[in-house]
Amino acid sequence: MSKKIFVCRPIPVVGLEMLAAQGHQLVAHPGPLPPTRDELIKGVHGCDAILSLLSDRIDAQIMDAAGPQLKVIANFAVGFNNIDLAEASRRGIRVGNTPDVLTDATADIAVGLSLAAARLFGAGIAAVNNGGWKTWEPLGWIGQDLQGKSLGIVGMGRIGMAVAQRLHFGWNMPVLYTARDRKPEADSLLKALHVELDQLLAESDIISVHVPLNDQTRNLIGEPQFRLMKPTSVLINTARGEIIDQDALVDALSSRRIFAAGLDVCTPEPLPLDHPLHQLENCILLPHIGSATTLARNAMATRAAKNILAGLSEKPLPFPVN
Ligand code: DGY
Repeated sequence: MSKKIFVCRPIPVVGLEMLAAQGHQLVAHPGPLPPTRDELIKGVHGCDAILSLLSDRIDAQIMDAAGPQLKVIANFAVGFNNIDLAEASRRGIRVGNTPDVLTDATADIAVGLSLAAARLFGAGIAAVNNGGWKTWEPLGWIGQDLQGKSLGIVGMGRIGMAVAQRLHFGWNMPVLYTARDRKPEADSLLKALHVELDQLLAESDIISVHVPLNDQTRNLIGEPQFRLMKPTSVLINTARGEIIDQDALVDALSSRRIFAAGLDVCTPEPLPLDHPLHQLENCILLPHIGSATTLARNAMATRAAKNILAGLSEKPLPFPVN
């Protein structure tokens, strides 16, 4: 039977075709911007499924607006902090995400940011573009080496592991990591050390954040944590902006408490143009493009569609989070 699906933004057509092929009615918010709260409330009305993005807050109000027939919410992302999971579970609404298929793409961005931040690409590109580059400078744009430096992975999940493999085997970096439990693969393959966060922050040269955003990880890295880091350390975040206390980050970068930061995520997104992070030459910012490759985005669309099709036919989701 045909069901109504609200799609919060245009996604790769491969996923939409899978849904349409089953005769379902797709109600798609046109984009390119996310639906406003009012548009979301109106759009989901009467829907059996919602295909949401990380920029759409899906909470009790939205579930109420959809109505009691809402069966499934498929997030077009691996992270799902935008969804009130407890509320969805309480109502028996299945929630799914798109794990694995964006691991490599996101790990590549973390590695790119590590190089870009450690070698001050931001300052260099700014100088090229604004006339600040006058000559070859023996003392200019001096960065940090990666070769043999220590890598701290905060949250050794799939993406953390992929970053660690790239930097361990590519740049010979010894790896420290935090995780609730030891990861046998990291221990055996990378000879990685499972440590407490404080030790990781104090000993690592590159610190890359890969924990999900939740009440335990919000502002996990703030002023006390920056005080533990080396003045040469480089902080990379490809997870969620809220995991880092951004005001404390501005202080740490502007006072050179740490050397540099490379961020694919920030708070809010996009960051207002007058935000101090934009003024800092030791901070490099990307517009949340960790998963932005054709392969990853098509696979995310396919996984989200599979979750919706399973949920609509009352089957377990292939990629569930509740
Ligand atoms: C995710 O999937 O959670 C990413 O942040 C978006 O690519």
